[in-house]
Amino acid sequence: MANISREHWGSKIGFILAAAGSAIGLGNVWKFPYITGANGGAAFIIVYLGFILLLGLPILITEIVIGRHTGKDPVGAFKTLAPNSIWKNTGYIAIFTAFIIVSFYSVVGGWTLGYIVKSVLGEISKFENIKTSGGAFNNFIGNPFSMIFYHFLFLLTCLIIIQLGVKKGIERYSKILMPIFLFLIVLIIIRGLMMPGSFKGVSFLLDPDFSKLSWSAVIDALGHSFFTLSLGMGTMITYGSYLNKKEKILSSSVYIAILDTVIALLAGFAIFPAVFAMNMDPSGGPGLIFSILPVVFSNIPYGAIFAFIFFVLLFIAALTSAISMIEVVVAYLVDEKKWSRPKATYSFGFVIFLIGIPAALSFGAIKDFKIFFGYNFFDFLDKLTSNIMLPAGGLLFAIFLGWKYGLNKTMHELDQDTSVTVLKKVWAVTVKFVSPVLLLFVMIYPLMVIIYNYLKK
Ligand code: PHE
Repeated sequence: MANISREHWGSKIGFILAAAGSAIGLGNVWKFPYITGANGGAAFIIVYLGFILLLGLPILITEIVIGRHTGKDPVGAFKTLAPNSIWKNTGYIAIFTAFIIVSFYSVVGGWTLGYIVKSVLGEISKFENIKTSGGAFNNFIGNPFSMIFYHFLFLLTCLIIIQLGVKKGIERYSKILMPIFLFLIVLIIIRGLMMPGSFKGVSFLLDPDFSKLSWSAVIDALGHSFFTLSLGMGTMITYGSYLNKKEKILSSSVYIAILDTVIALLAGFAIFPAVFAMNMDPSGGPGLIFSILPVVFSNIPYGAIFAFIFFVLLFIAALTSAISMIEVVVAYLVDEKKWSRPKATYSFGFVIFLIGIPAALSFGAIKDFKIFFGYNFFDFLDKLTSNIMLPAGGLLFAIFLGWKYGLNKTMHELDQDTSVTVLKKVWAVTVKFVSPVLLLFVMIYPLMVIIYNYLKK
């Protein structure tokens, strides 16, 4: 079924690094540490690991199977597997989701660039306490010009790499950037562990305290196991569509999930020991990275250099993920609309730039504008996509493959070694039953909370 003239990854490791580059993103370095911090540390991590196995990994395999089986972008894939049915809308939903997520993800990508510049200018060494640091962060994200400028610069970097092509752009840069990322994170961990008192941070990550684990923490863990593997919007369908027939999907997916999980844990070890050593609050929320860490960097010798290293690694994480989101739409325009890759990349890039502007202004010019239930534009897009659109996408993929198209017709896509026969069966049962139920929970829970709070009033 695959189209011969379409581009493919040059190697299995190239695919794994590109997909891991997609998976390892702001979710790992920014979000995972702060939701872990807010939810009591190790106990939360244990639940999260369980969901990676029950939800993340099975849907990751599902998406890659759909992509490789058809060799098409998400819309083309559903059109091929279920011609003339409403299922092709699943592909459109995925593309629409990618479109929205990248517009605000790119804004945060811009923050990382801004903080790289701040560390080069030596500003970060002046944030002695949380007041100065938090104030500087709020000023920064409240400044409309720098927000739009950095959003633009970040996006442009993504576009330049994407228009070079799958192999010469995305794969080549993932192979360069991911090892650099790993090296930098190890440097930061070593620096953190060398600080006196850092050990409290280590035990925070390793000693489970189940009393802190609430229902909403469990739902956070569930939703995050899904977001962190870049699922629900056709990224992995798209990346899977460039995978050669001879490569093994099962083992590749396991590597991708392991890399992603290990990096999330390493990010915890890069952040919490230092935060504890400075007696700061681990449950600092979204500001943990941009307000609390700069205080740590300002108070240690050579802090500015470590700040620079840290924000470069955060930038790399955001970059390779944003690239994978944009590629979903570019693949659609190239495959279905027959546009050239540069034309698809730049014209779509321009549209994302425009859509990102309200998100970029959400903390400044339009911060008092609440679009929905007290959420500003940025938070609204974040909640809408992570709690509703991505899980809905994943649910549709699982139901499609598990119930409509039939898993039997795709089993040959999975590794043929007899040693994995049992795993294939486990995958089948999980995709058909377990993952859809878990995804329904992610979607229904926030609604239940809203209704509950409403009734309580
Ligand atoms: N997985 C990425 C992260 O953890 C986010 C992402 C979601 C990327 C969906 C692509 C698609 O930050």
